[in-house]
Amino acid sequence: MNVLVTGILSEKAAQRLNQIATVDTYESDDALSEEQVVARLDGKNALVCLLGDKIDARLLDKCPDLKLVANVAVGYDNIKVADATSRGVLITNTPGVLDNATADLAFGLLLSAARRIGESDRFVRAGKWQGWSRDLMLGQELNGKTLGIIGMGRIGKAFAKRAQAFGLKIIYTKKSSDQSKESELKESFDADKVDLDSLCERSDFISIHCPLTPATRHLVGSAQFAKMKSDCVLVNTSRGAVIDEAALVEALSTNRIAAAGLDVFEREPEVSPGLLKLENVVMTPHIGSASQETRDAMDELAISGLISAFENKCPKNAVNPEAWDAFVKRLKK
Ligand code: GLV
Repeated sequence: MNVLVTGILSEKAAQRLNQIATVDTYESDDALSEEQVVARLDGKNALVCLLGDKIDARLLDKCPDLKLVANVAVGYDNIKVADATSRGVLITNTPGVLDNATADLAFGLLLSAARRIGESDRFVRAGKWQGWSRDLMLGQELNGKTLGIIGMGRIGKAFAKRAQAFGLKIIYTKKSSDQSKESELKESFDADKVDLDSLCERSDFISIHCPLTPATRHLVGSAQFAKMKSDCVLVNTSRGAVIDEAALVEALSTNRIAAAGLDVFEREPEVSPGLLKLENVVMTPHIGSASQETRDAMDELAISGLISAFENKCPKNAVNPEAWDAFVKRLKK
């Protein structure tokens, strides 16, 4: 087997892959262009890629040997799954192993934005601190407030667990409707499912944990900001384009909402210049899953799925198991 890896893997995962395949690893942090990916995929059966790599019909048609794409991320909005499925290309992702790391970061952003930690840090560093003062950097306390979680999947639930310990009342939106899951969420977190309008109106804090799909692109825009409380704090660790970033700049700069904590941006790594000027936003560079343990586990899961597929077992982390039969047929050719 010949595999292209577009980022550095953990030593353990790299060793496992090297045992079964000839591996071409791209070791720079600068993203490869589409032409470079196509050139390096020549004659390769599998690609282990990152969320900056765009996989669509155009690329797939130029890489006829490619049979599997292992995305080292849980989100796979960088991949046109239907294009892959129709060509018998199996796609895998890394669900489950990054829930705690991402929920930790989201909670860090919530606390930072609500208690103005980023702003306070800049204030101290700038030598502006004159002494203790009663009203200096007054922020918002979490206990007793209402938290709205948009997208109550694995990461949303890990976030809810943390929120419970901080005394937050939880409401959420969830795309699928499943009575038994809703009862479970009620039992575990005393959490109530609501619609998006009601979540926007009722929440003191909102955290986004849904995937980016055509249905969730700009899910939060000016109409939603108009419904939010003026002291609402918004956190996003999912994908930037779930929020209309121009509308967010407007909402933050006019104090329509109080603050935001953002790990993801609509046109990464570009950040709207309007955000950079604002004090009431704390930003991190898409590091939701960036803990050593989690990154190792993501690499491990990506490589396990790849090995399993080439050993003729449909991996549990296949995003498009419906492509399995066509994948197997192509494998046997
Ligand atoms: C990171 O953003 C991921 O989707 O894993």
